[in-house]
Amino acid sequence: MRILRSYKKDIALQGETTVAGDKSISHRSLIFSALAHGKSQISGLLEGEDVLKTAGALRLMGVEIERKIDGIWEVNGSGVAGLMEPDDVLDMGNSGTSSRLMAGLVCPYNFTSFFTGDASLRKRPMGRVFEPITQIGAKIVARQNNLMPFAVVGAREPMPISYQMKVASAQVKSCILLAALTIRGTTTIIEPEKCRDHSEIMMRHLGLKISTQNFGNHGTKISYSGLQEFDAKNFEVPGDISSAAFLIVAALLVKNSKIKIKNVGINPLRDGIVTTLREMGGKIEIINEREIGGEKVGDLIVEYSQLRGIEIPADRAPSMIDEYPILSIAAANAKGVTKMNGLAELKVKESNRLLMIAQNLENCGSNLKMGDDYLEIQGGVNQPKDLVKIKTSMDHRIAMSFLVMGLTLENGVEIDDASMIATSFPTFEKIFADFGSAFELTIPNHKSI
Ligand code: S3P
Repeated sequence: MRILRSYKKDIALQGETTVAGDKSISHRSLIFSALAHGKSQISGLLEGEDVLKTAGALRLMGVEIERKIDGIWEVNGSGVAGLMEPDDVLDMGNSGTSSRLMAGLVCPYNFTSFFTGDASLRKRPMGRVFEPITQIGAKIVARQNNLMPFAVVGAREPMPISYQMKVASAQVKSCILLAALTIRGTTTIIEPEKCRDHSEIMMRHLGLKISTQNFGNHGTKISYSGLQEFDAKNFEVPGDISSAAFLIVAALLVKNSKIKIKNVGINPLRDGIVTTLREMGGKIEIINEREIGGEKVGDLIVEYSQLRGIEIPADRAPSMIDEYPILSIAAANAKGVTKMNGLAELKVKESNRLLMIAQNLENCGSNLKMGDDYLEIQGGVNQPKDLVKIKTSMDHRIAMSFLVMGLTLENGVEIDDASMIATSFPTFEKIFADFGSAFELTIPNHKSI
């Protein structure tokens, strides 16, 4: 357990930085490389615990994955349908993405895989992927309410399905697409609300034939015919916009800040946070826009700004689903009210984020209203008289968001555990330290020391 404190220091954030690799793209680059023919090199891979869990699971299925010098990862692919039965339980740690993607990946194989995870992951809903997986023909044995641990007894004769998505979840979509790779026939997914399309982009980059038809308000139809073989290609993972978001908001809130964050993924299905912060008056410029492996990438220049409250439509939620904790910190420091809609999914993330944001912000002196799927935050920080203790509930994004909140509070905040930050953004603390805003480590009074 690592207890950290953060305080208002009036030290502007100035200069250039990069953030850790995109988590979604990192998981997918490992998985697709594992099914390719030949060796792939992946640079910029996020070396966070979540991604290492995906690598560990693939190794248990016979895939050779090695970290070379300079953080370049090499994957020796087994080919489509080339995975072997894992001879141990797949421990996914804190990672919902690893669990849901890998459950889809293994379901068309004629073997059984066992999955478990940490205390946070064992509370998260898995039924959303069990439904398509069982339609494909695999069997699931799980705890009550479709919780982990669970086993996927792979299908003997996997069937191509036509599946209409019930939640806007890229994990569910990718679970089905990864299964489809190994299923003879055409799998179809109907997506009423568009969510991140990194899997589709990567499949095209690898030369796979995947069709996407857009029906405007009626959604998108994705079709893929399985058992297409493909050769290994190299991947360059861009910086994670979800990690950059903590720095963006910190720079917007701390007076006189001006920073450049280089090489950030700005996929249009992920950039809702930039749109929203700009609407709130945030000065964010994107320069040097380019494309890498089919993904849009750019450098962000962010400058201290006076933010104002706005209403954020529910249909923007899929493009910024992981950014509401840090957006709430921006909202708490803005002038006026910010209303965020369409937040039901926040309740089933690494913690119940809707509740954790509301409770912790109230403890920081903010006035807010929380509904079943919305949050209304009255901006303007009332400086609390004492240090505020923040409960993180094993949630990396709650931890990072409130460390940024601490930079606006005279008496600061203390978060109960910073260790989960390593799941997605292992360089977070170092980057703030390099900007002169180091967080303080508190040593608890252990009798045994
Ligand atoms: C992810 C999809 C999102 C997001 C998660 C990563 C992915 O989850 O919250 O951090 O890589 O596909 P949902 O699919 O549950 O929305």
